[in-house]
Amino acid sequence: MIYPIVKYPNPILRKKNVLVKHFDDELKTLIQNMFKTMLQADGIGLAAPQIGKNIRLFIVNTKDLLTDTDDFQVFINPVITFTSQETAIDEEGCLSIPKIYTPVKRHVSVIIKAQDVNGKEFVQKADKLLARIIQHEFDHLNGVLFIDKVLALNKKTLEFDLKKRSKDDA
Ligand code: CO
Repeated sequence: MIYPIVKYPNPILRKKNVLVKHFDDELKTLIQNMFKTMLQADGIGLAAPQIGKNIRLFIVNTKDLLTDTDDFQVFINPVITFTSQETAIDEEGCLSIPKIYTPVKRHVSVIIKAQDVNGKEFVQKADKLLARIIQHEFDHLNGVLFIDKVLALNKKTLEFDLKKRSKDDA
């Protein structure tokens, strides 16, 4: 099934997300459906709260990013264990905040520890775009959205765009 995507400013996006405890068939189905939802929405990442599930899990579309893995990767109960000092600024968007794109500063590399669909722990190093997506999705698990991280310089434009967007939706 394709889930409807939870849109800003729905409070679900700000709620606490709990650890995944059961690595069962229900979880596998949920992840498959999240993958379908991400593809349908043309996204490169999707976190569980964005489909209304307040659990610590996100997926990344790795089809064009990594050659040695499947089309997507799942990170369950993730912890970022290292962030590079080097940062980079690039434009981001979010399926939960359509039509808004703004530059965000992120670490260039991260190391992330997480569990896979079977509960097996793995550690992965990510750079550049993959590192950016991981940081963006990881933030969702802490109720943080990319618009919270917008550079001071772009704040006014963002506020204007958000206001305009809510008017368009009304
Ligand atoms: Co997002």
